[in-house]
Amino acid sequence: MRVYQVSGYREMSQRAADLIIAQILLNPQSVLGLATGSTPIGVYERLVEKHNRGELDCSGLTTFNLDEYCGLSEEDPQSYHYFMNSHLFSKVNIRKDKIHIPDPSGDIEKECKQYDSLIEAHGGIDLQLLGIGNNGHIGFNEPGTVYEGGTHCVDLDESTIQANARFFDNPDDVPRKAVTMGMKSIMLAKKVLLIANGEAKKAILEKSLYGPITPMVPASVLQLHPGLIVVWSAD
Ligand code: PGA
Repeated sequence: MRVYQVSGYREMSQRAADLIIAQILLNPQSVLGLATGSTPIGVYERLVEKHNRGELDCSGLTTFNLDEYCGLSEEDPQSYHYFMNSHLFSKVNIRKDKIHIPDPSGDIEKECKQYDSLIEAHGGIDLQLLGIGNNGHIGFNEPGTVYEGGTHCVDLDESTIQANARFFDNPDDVPRKAVTMGMKSIMLAKKVLLIANGEAKKAILEKSLYGPITPMVPASVLQLHPGLIVVWSAD
């Protein structure tokens, strides 16, 4: 595990973006696992800036997003499809046919199996970007999630629903279910880049990185990942 403690959101974003950029420059055909939430927004901004300067070609990349809410259309501004499009995909030259985000609109079980098979068919994820929830979740793998699971449908924790209510006009509109890559899908990534920002994440990050490994703190299993890089800022 390599931990970079940096100062402020800007530096966290730049440091994490630099690592992703290095991954892309070393292997322009990289398979990236991507995350949503407030933490990675600055990382995506840095990638877009680099692309706009003509220094980052994303045309060879394949991407797999961690999760998506159930019950929201792709055009819904709260959906993760919309988030990824507005923060990254519409702003760089990633090929649309190489973008993958779980689609909970049809037969979810089938979709989940196909999602895992597709990741496998691409040789796995080279670099997985991750945020961390206040309850230690990664993706939407809430406390108590089994380690051996692949992509699946979950009931969101009450604490996650409350944390995400800030993005919705009406807290009652926060979806109660989502599809997420499983713990196993995440652990199979060759490298994992965990980012965290702010005093509020300090306690759960410390618990995850240095506390007991337990399904009750999902991110704690990352201690076993040989390619874990953590970039975090407490201020
Ligand atoms: P945040 O969410 O980036 O909005 O804090 C992280 C997460 O819940 O994984």
